[in-house]
Amino acid sequence: MRYARRLVGDLVRKLAAILDDASRFNRTESMRKYGANIGKNVFFEGDLSDYSNAPFLTIEDGATVSHGTVILLHDSALNNTLGLPIKFGKVVIGKESYIGANCTILCGVRIGERAIVGSHSLVTKDIPDEAVAYGVPARVQGTIHELAERHKANMKADADDDRYHYLDIIPWRDRVNSQLKYRADYLDFIERSI
Ligand SMILES: CC(C)(COP(=O)(O)OP(=O)(O)OC[C@H]1O[C@@H](n2cnc3c(N)ncnc32)[C@H](O)[C@@H]1OP(=O)(O)O)[C@@H](O)C(=O)NCCC(=O)NCCS
Repeated sequence: MRYARRLVGDLVRKLAAILDDASRFNRTESMRKYGANIGKNVFFEGDLSDYSNAPFLTIEDGATVSHGTVILLHDSALNNTLGLPIKFGKVVIGKESYIGANCTILCGVRIGERAIVGSHSLVTKDIPDEAVAYGVPARVQGTIHELAERHKANMKADADDDRYHYLDIIPWRDRVNSQLKYRADYLDFIERSI
């Protein structure tokens, strides 16, 4: 009985993972259809303020945009209040950069290559290459290399702490084409960690 329950749980999670991948794929494809310039192996779980503005958006190869992040490609605040012209602005999400969950990216902003934007940030200005920025408004707090040093130290310190678990796996941009194979490893890891 326990075995059967586990098997069904496993199947449901695998199915959910497949549906998750499909919905991500559909969203990226529909942004492309609306004219956004989306590179290869992009992970996009965010949203656009208006799909008709999609041609103002460029997402470079291997970038990640996490759940709930909204990219604004126009600002109609003064158009709706005082009847002034609507402002449109190109947004560039740099190569292999990472935007955390629930961020808002204002129009006209460029996120640098391999930059990291922390969750819940409001990005109002350009973020340089390889910078780590977060907050409302987002401010540069350091570099990805400084963050990496802290991360490595934390991994050592967390070795005996059952709250944290680390999975050594290649980045999503490199495993996207064989996602199902890695999904199985991923689900096994979750199972072993709980
Ligand atoms: C920014 C980030 C990369 C890590 O930064 P970090 O420097 O290691 O963060 P720490 O946990 O050491 O915190 C350092 C300080 O920054 C603050 N901080 C960390 N992340 C923050 C964020 N997103 N917004 C505001 N403040 C943040 C902490 O509160 C802490 O403040 P304190 O010094 O006053 O206590 C991480 O916090 C983050 O936001 N990651 C994205 C997670 C995510 O969205 N995942 C989506 C899954 S696909």
